Amino acid sequence: MRYAQIAGWGMHVPSRLVKNERFVELGLDTSDEWIATRTGIRQRYIAGNESTSDLALRAAQEALYVSGTHARDIDLILLATCTPDQVMPSTASLIQDRIGATGAGAMDLNAACAGFVYALAMGAGQIESGRARQVLVIGADELSTHLNWRDRSTCVLFGDGAGAVVLKESDEPGILSSTTGCDGAGADLLMIPAARPNSRANGHSPKGVGYLTMNGPQIFRWATQMMAKAAEKVITASGLKLEQVDLFIPHQANLRIMETTAKRLGLPLEKVFSNVRQYGNTSAASIPIALYEAVAAGRLKGGDNVVLSSFGAGLSWAAVALRWGANVPAQHTRWSPLRRELEARMAAVRSTLRRQERAVRATIGERLRRDGD
Ligand code: ACO
Repeated sequence: MRYAQIAGWGMHVPSRLVKNERFVELGLDTSDEWIATRTGIRQRYIAGNESTSDLALRAAQEALYVSGTHARDIDLILLATCTPDQVMPSTASLIQDRIGATGAGAMDLNAACAGFVYALAMGAGQIESGRARQVLVIGADELSTHLNWRDRSTCVLFGDGAGAVVLKESDEPGILSSTTGCDGAGADLLMIPAARPNSRANGHSPKGVGYLTMNGPQIFRWATQMMAKAAEKVITASGLKLEQVDLFIPHQANLRIMETTAKRLGLPLEKVFSNVRQYGNTSAASIPIALYEAVAAGRLKGGDNVVLSSFGAGLSWAAVALRWGANVPAQHTRWSPLRRELEARMAAVRSTLRRQERAVRATIGERLRRDGD
């Protein structure tokens, strides 16, 4: 039997820390108390000059390092994001180039906040079927670029960030089961209308184009039901009993959603991991960042059963049950800045050479064509 196991993990958030009080200072009609009690969020990190690919790159490099994998041995890069650097090419293709993953296919996947768990399920499937041996799965988003900073009901909720894991082929159980789902009838509850200059697709006025809009209370109610159902499904499919679940990592959107979900499941709160307080809702990055911090905090040991459950715009949802690998170290050392810098430079040199080679070939081809004329 061939399994997919998480062998490395990484995360990165921008350096600009924005505490709840900052919104009040900027004149928004809100308070630290309201935000903290209604959501559990105290602060978030917001990107300045860094793009989604910049954040994703740092998380990916760390995950590769922790897993001891060379970028050239990666078969596939799946990048879950709803805030790509541009419409095309995919942000995953930029990562493929910047890490030097010369043997990898690369694509983006958009299932909003549920994207990382979707991508994890897809990546595991590729390994289990024998089509790939090592898959780099990234969740990265910069929802701050779509926030209306005058809309207190949305702008206080989100933060930017990236998280990544390396999935490797293994004889030991890793990913045990997964489920994905979607209810497009709820698509209008959480949207970022496309910023396409000539788009008539969704009837939104140009004023609203590009901004995130959300029906918070409806999403709240739906999320508490859906995350619990999805989690139950993978627990059952894995042949586990609820009491055998060692750690539950839900999408980090709102502490109250997480607590209600745990209650519905019948899981004690000690088994629920949450770091929404520090990062806000980082969309597709939320679960890999939480997983990273759970490892760093010593909350996972070899053989532990972990359940990830997520929800997002779509409305989409996904859950995964996994067994934490026995060979995976309980703690990991931070990425050595020197070695990361060296590998990044080598990838940059390779990329420059490839571009120059392509330019030279194009020039020669043009000359030959002209000579032929
Ligand atoms: N500060 C102060 N007051 C606020 C704020 C704020 N930041 N935001 C809203 N309010 C006010 C509202 O205006 C309203 O006032 P009113 O009663 O005078 O009209 C009051 O607070 C209650 O508003 P509700 O929206 O009913 O508040 P609720 O308790 O539902 O909390 C929240 C709102 C936090 C948005 C909650 O509904 C929620 O978390 N929903 C889920 C959202 C979510 O998870 N989204 C991410 C999905 S993942 C993805 O794909 C991106």
